[in-house]
Amino acid sequence: MYEAYWKLKEKPFRNTPDPKFFFNSTQHEDALLKLTYAAAESMGAAMLTGVFGCGKTLIGQALLRDLGPERYRLAFINTPLLSSPELLRSIVRNLKSTELPSKMSELMSDSLLEILQDVLINNMRDGKETVIIIDEAHIIKDDNIFETLRLLLNFQLQDKFLLTLFLFGQPELKDKINNYKQLEQRIALRCHLDRFGEKETAQYILHRMKVAGREDQVFTPDAVKIIFEKTGGIPRRINHLCDLSLLTGFGRKAQNIDRTIIERSTKEFGE
Ligand SMILES: Nc1ncnc2c1ncn2[C@@H]1O[C@H](COP(=O)(O)OP(=O)(O)OP(=O)(O)O)[C@@H](O)[C@H]1O
Ligand SMILES: [Mg+2]
Repeated sequence: MYEAYWKLKEKPFRNTPDPKFFFNSTQHEDALLKLTYAAAESMGAAMLTGVFGCGKTLIGQALLRDLGPERYRLAFINTPLLSSPELLRSIVRNLKSTELPSKMSELMSDSLLEILQDVLINNMRDGKETVIIIDEAHIIKDDNIFETLRLLLNFQLQDKFLLTLFLFGQPELKDKINNYKQLEQRIALRCHLDRFGEKETAQYILHRMKVAGREDQVFTPDAVKIIFEKTGGIPRRINHLCDLSLLTGFGRKAQNIDRTIIERSTKEFGE
């Protein structure tokens, strides 16, 4: 709606985990590097925690983009509130390109684990690494699911893990995993995403505007300061407020986004 007015090719602050807009902040770059390393070296399991709206799902999408099909087979599970057989079925469906047994929906965990093992061994024979990403893992309540995840890490051949398991979730995931020592001990690598500081908030806004087609500074330093204060440096909240500000600025025929525009927009920023 306001794109043409602001000379943008597209909306810069859409709240979707689109890797095209990925901003390489130190912590995001670090997380992506570590997770890529964990997958490349078949390190078993890795955990990414972070407060809501700080980019965990986006990192998952960036991994799907970066870990290409020449070397990796990936499963991305974003609804871990499943039973163990449902979770396994979902993983097998994500990984297996060929036809599944017709009675798949009736299979229980043991048979599914056997099918999964075959899939993993076939992937290895094809020279592919298998990566399973479980997003929103902090909402897992069922102990059986953690037990199933632990069993997945038992799939090894000559001391090499047949899969890499990534667990993504909000900070309470750490405490949950700590209660499952056998799983916890297998987490070879941990990374964490936090809110941005003020300087990063400014760079983030500039970056997203640039990707959307506008190179010069539209948001004044004063405006950025208030955006940081109002959003606490959480990317999802920054996106929301910046989007509203561009709309307000468009409505008022503003030349740039200054303090006044942000203050007007925050009235509608009811998070
Ligand atoms: N480094 C970044 N570069 C570009 N956009 C980002 C970055 N980090 C977060 N975002 C944006 O912020 C929004 C929220 O990110 P995302 O959905 O990945 O958060 P999350 O950590 O998965 O949150 P939740 O815990 O609620 O699931 C998305 O629109 C995403 O594109
Ligand atoms: Mg998420």
